[in-house]
Amino acid sequence: MATTPTTSRTISVEINGTTYEREVPASRLLVHFLRDDLDLTGTHVGCDTGSCGACTVQLDGAAVKSCCMLAVQADGASLRTVEGLAGEDGELSALQQAFHTHHGLQCGYCTPGMLMSATALLERNPHPSEDEVKLALQGNICRCTGYWNIVEAVVAAGEGGAQ
Ligand code: FES
Ligand code: FES
Repeated sequence: MATTPTTSRTISVEINGTTYEREVPASRLLVHFLRDDLDLTGTHVGCDTGSCGACTVQLDGAAVKSCCMLAVQADGASLRTVEGLAGEDGELSALQQAFHTHHGLQCGYCTPGMLMSATALLERNPHPSEDEVKLALQGNICRCTGYWNIVEAVVAAGEGGAQ
């Protein structure tokens, strides 16, 4: 007897320290699960085709483009979104503070993705060089800043602060 294709599935995902269990359509993209099902709208959608990096989140520590994954593929994983960067008291992370100090954003649309790619870089390489930062951010597009202030901010965060 033919089996009926599964159209939805219950998944359990830890996001920013909170576990969410939800039934999701099998075809739902992770970025839409975050934004539309969980109201975690800090993760942006720029292209929906894997080109811009605005949707970048951390999945088990690695930077991934959440428009390139299905929500069901994140079942059992630990995610961090931009909402999870600041401390519980709202204190900015050193990287967020560096973006502020070095004027690493203008319209801010790309910023969540930039922050998540850079956070993943700083976790595996706490003191990246300028070239290493540029390489790590090559999948993130910014239409506003010319990139220099973003790169400067990430290098400064790696040097130990937001100065
Ligand atoms: S929205 Fe995912 S890469 Fe552009
Ligand atoms: S700050 Fe506007 S797209 Fe990057």
